[in-house]
Amino acid sequence: MIFKKIAVVGTGYVGLVTGVALSEIGHSVTCVDIDEQKVASMREGISPIYEPGLSDLMKKNYEAGRLSFTTSHELAFSDADAIYIAVGTPQKEDGTADLRFIESVARNIAEHLTSYAVIVTKSTVPVGTNDYIKQYIEKHTDVSFDVVSNPEFLREGSAVHDTFNGDRIVIGSDSPFAGQVIEDINAPFGIPVFKTDIRSAEMIKYASNAFLATKISFVNEIATLCEKLGANVEDVAKGMGQDKRIGEKFLNAGIGYGGSCFPKDTSALVQIAGNVEHEFTLLKAVIEVNYKQQRLLLDKAKEHFGSLRGKTIAMLGTAFKPNTDDMREAASTILARELVLAGAHVVAYDPIAMDAAKKLFPEAVDFAENVKSALKGADAAFLVTEWDDFKELRPEQYASLLKEPVLFDGRNCYDLEGMKGAGMDYYSIGRPVVKVERELV
Ligand code: UDX
Repeated sequence: MIFKKIAVVGTGYVGLVTGVALSEIGHSVTCVDIDEQKVASMREGISPIYEPGLSDLMKKNYEAGRLSFTTSHELAFSDADAIYIAVGTPQKEDGTADLRFIESVARNIAEHLTSYAVIVTKSTVPVGTNDYIKQYIEKHTDVSFDVVSNPEFLREGSAVHDTFNGDRIVIGSDSPFAGQVIEDINAPFGIPVFKTDIRSAEMIKYASNAFLATKISFVNEIATLCEKLGANVEDVAKGMGQDKRIGEKFLNAGIGYGGSCFPKDTSALVQIAGNVEHEFTLLKAVIEVNYKQQRLLLDKAKEHFGSLRGKTIAMLGTAFKPNTDDMREAASTILARELVLAGAHVVAYDPIAMDAAKKLFPEAVDFAENVKSALKGADAAFLVTEWDDFKELRPEQYASLLKEPVLFDGRNCYDLEGMKGAGMDYYSIGRPVVKVERELV
């Protein structure tokens, strides 16, 4: 194995995980970021993102001299065999991907490229962007280079694990040589490689995320039907998933998908389709279902209480999913805002994402020190994120801590019988409601 010299531009979640993983398998990696403070703290061994296992690997490879951090593109690009682009592609107001950062990296590469390198796009970019990057750099430098699309499929919270255990590595290229360089770089991961052309690789990323989002919205629609027809979506999903053509994964009904990828990439793909005069009707419906789903607990609570004015709601979890502090497109933000608007008092708790939540939630929201103090004396609880800490709570604990024994569970964390036994009113997603008959006093 010949180890390569690699530059990674952007030390966000994708860039840093990629850089650290490539150094761990032996390559010499320089991560470059324009944020001086971030670079300084990474040099101190502090990871700017919370990702299990990342800090340790980062420190280990930094100390071993295989991983370095700089703000200088010139330094990072000199003699690099490959330059990975891993900057953000945020969503613009009209749903399209904002390519500002990609364009600025292309400018930097054109300016500082001194010898042949393979330019690898990790960021999720609309189909055709790699061609654009290629044309732009070609126009501004005489140095030869190739462009490769190598999308990532990492999940937040298990990004390090996913990097070493992915299902496939997609390499899109129009140069067999460049494709081989990237295949060789990735060889130590031992993950199957799928090679294709650049545009298909770009599309694979969007299509994969859109398909997974579709699976979620589909099962959520089935959940709504289950509620109306007296079926249980958990059993329905299990029975469906046993068909290998369907598969059991990503069929968990709940309060919809959030995060940095699905909402952004589904909107972007609808726009991309629109640009070539195709209305992506199916994906539009997926997005619409998710919009409703993220507000579902509120509808259920309004139906239960009539009015939420003056009610105290304990919100368990604010992150868009467990094991991350990421609040991007989290249902919790919508729910907090709507609950406050409806006159409720919200007391929120999250094991990791509370600092992020404090910046996004309305000022009227209070934050608890632990899950029990959030629940104590509240009129009802909303379970928003399925952290293990919450799953470990027993139904009896809810019943004794809450003023009224009502739980709206957006992630189907508990067994119906257990909730019934504890005397709880329990609303979940796509499953029968548990309601205890109480005598009026
Ligand atoms: C996702 C993709 O999985 C990953 O391949 C891609 O690179 C980036 O986007 P991530 O956003 O980290 O990863 O989260 P993921 O674990 O996939 O969950 C996304 C959202 O879907 C979460 O809000 C989660 O709660 C929701 N979800 C997931 C469901 O509601 N039901 C499911 O069955 C699975």
